[in-house]
Amino acid sequence: MIISTLSEDRIPEVVALWEATGLTRPWNDPVADARKALANDGSTVLIGTDGHTLVASAMVGFDGHRGWVYYVAVSPDRQGMRLGEEIMHAAEEWLRGRGVGKLQLMIREENHAVRSFYRRLGYQTEQVTVMSIRL
Ligand SMILES: CC(C)(COP(=O)(O)OP(=O)(O)OC[C@H]1O[C@@H](n2cnc3c(N)ncnc32)[C@H](O)[C@@H]1OP(=O)(O)O)[C@@H](O)C(=O)NCCC(=O)NCCS
Repeated sequence: MIISTLSEDRIPEVVALWEATGLTRPWNDPVADARKALANDGSTVLIGTDGHTLVASAMVGFDGHRGWVYYVAVSPDRQGMRLGEEIMHAAEEWLRGRGVGKLQLMIREENHAVRSFYRRLGYQTEQVTVMSIRL
């Protein structure tokens, strides 16, 4: 797998990956999400490709204090082959290169299976409650 930055023309492919892995929600516009992440110096979308096929993604960004990842995904037919681990290491490296000392991520309550994936990579559960407001 080769890891690179998402280009504008591949947004439909990465959105198809997010849909195939159940990461999209009706209230989020994934195309706009990808464009906004690419428009800022503090964020990007990393993709993993095998030949011409886009097989993995991770949106990564720095909010001024912490790093965050969103849209971590591997194609259903390529899961379990450590591609998720590779794209997460690339996201960590992207942040490390910008002097960011901590990476955080949010897991939807119902997504139980993925917790062991992150734990295997060394991530720990934080004792925090995430709150939000629509703007
Ligand atoms: C989570 C995801 C990115 C992992 O990618 P992957 O390439 O399959 O993962 P890896 O091969 O690097 O690691 C697999 C390890 O993670 C663990 N794991 C736990 N739950 C898992 C799951 N649902 N899928 C894959 N691995 C899982 C296993 O321990 C496995 O290790 P093992 O092979 O020793 O059993 C991928 O399963 C995915 O796209 N899931 C759907 C989208 C999603 O939930 N994203 C995260 C949102 S927070």
